Amino acid sequence: VILGVDIGTSGTKTIAVRFPTGEVIAEASASYPCHHPKPLWSEQDPADWWRATLKTIRQAVKKAGCKPADVKAIGLSGQMHGSVFLDKKDEVVRPALLWNDQRTAAECEEIEQRAGGRKRLIKMVANPALTGFQAPKILWLRNNEPKNFDKTASVLLPKDYIRLKLTGERASEVSDASGTLLLDVAKRRWSKPLLSKLELDPGLLPPVVESHEVTGHLTAEVAKKVGLTTDCVVVGGAGDCAAGAVGNGVVKRGVVATSLGTSGVVFCHSDAPEVDPEGRLHTFCHAVDGKWHMMGVTLSAAGSFQWFADTLCETEKKAAKKSGKSVFETLVAEAATTAAGAQGLFFLPYLTGERTPHADPLARGAFVGLTLSHGRGEMVRSVLEGVTYSLRDCLDIMQELGVGVREVRATGGGAKSPFWRQLQADVFGKKVCNMAADEGPAYGVALLGAVGAGEFKNVTEACDATVSTVAETKPTAKTKKFYDRAMPVYQGLYRSLKEDY
Ligand code: XUL
Repeated sequence: VILGVDIGTSGTKTIAVRFPTGEVIAEASASYPCHHPKPLWSEQDPADWWRATLKTIRQAVKKAGCKPADVKAIGLSGQMHGSVFLDKKDEVVRPALLWNDQRTAAECEEIEQRAGGRKRLIKMVANPALTGFQAPKILWLRNNEPKNFDKTASVLLPKDYIRLKLTGERASEVSDASGTLLLDVAKRRWSKPLLSKLELDPGLLPPVVESHEVTGHLTAEVAKKVGLTTDCVVVGGAGDCAAGAVGNGVVKRGVVATSLGTSGVVFCHSDAPEVDPEGRLHTFCHAVDGKWHMMGVTLSAAGSFQWFADTLCETEKKAAKKSGKSVFETLVAEAATTAAGAQGLFFLPYLTGERTPHADPLARGAFVGLTLSHGRGEMVRSVLEGVTYSLRDCLDIMQELGVGVREVRATGGGAKSPFWRQLQADVFGKKVCNMAADEGPAYGVALLGAVGAGEFKNVTEACDATVSTVAETKPTAKTKKFYDRAMPVYQGLYRSLKEDY
């Protein structure tokens, strides 16, 4: 049995997976808040992640009903890019800054300048400086909270902080480390030249391994707390995007995954480090040894839908809770009764700024085109359509760079809706498959754990043995044509509004 733990933005999920079959035998999750103390800020308390990790591991092990020694390995996944600042005693210095925090525009400029320009930066670390990445967060601390910076002895990514708590070891792995902007992505090691230009001490960062490699064992204290043994190893794991890709078998060319969680991701595998010269897509190491990936990220995907439900549908939320349904089902059913294009209503999903394709922390969400005849069904539909257009923006760039797309695998919470899958097929004009088991990043890192524990030779073999698609949704010709015409209108709205944000 291997555990996969995913430290997400809305909560932590732990699953127990039996190998070699890959069957999920138990699951537990725990949620925690996200804080926005100022506009553009997004923070969490790492202690919340740690409590949720302990709780969900304990519960998953109990539900799985296995003996402590049966659990051979743990794989860790999590929200990428976050910064946990630790002092000499490994105490947290201040709340962690998250992937969707947008306060670091000035530091992104500083990084490009120090690197000798955007092109040279992309040459060193394969990516431009984006506000969500970790390096600008470290510089923000140095520029704005110098006392906290002076106290900081190390900086870890969210899942790597949990690794430190579980094993006492400081380590990261290539896929998540790519999102710091400090990794030489092509060479899969920290970029000494960039660290030196930024005047950052390399000692702040942990050693980096490949994603399936063992980084340590559970400490005796933790093993006792969660009901496991100190023989249980913790492997490198992966950032949630690469982990999700492994969990959905996106480990070869031609298969592209979309993920609809808080953020939306379009992800493709690369055999070599391919770079978008304009820096619109990220080029990161894959969680597959010696492979890479490109991805586009939309910051508020299912997060936009969640915002809509939380802000405008309080009564429906309560009613849904009473009847044991989810409010999303109710709202999607309303959207399904409306026509494609929501009667001319467009939604721009830039509630926390946008990464791909605009790289604009100041972009804002908008409903455009409201009339008296619009009801909530149209509003919900336009939210779903806006998010899906935003994924298509990413997919179009990938195709422009020559990535052939044979199949799109729809994953994440949003992909559970047949309506949203059809919408993806129609907006992309591609066949969209859904997965037999969509356990997301937690499943991907359980597979990495299984490779680390010697169950499989490599990640590709682990995916071939366990991952399959169940159904496919084909685009409807007429609706696809409609969305092809609507797409440039959606794209034009950002251009028109940009100056006014
Ligand atoms: C990826 C990204 C998000 C987070 C969400 O670059 O920022 O997908 O990883 O958890």
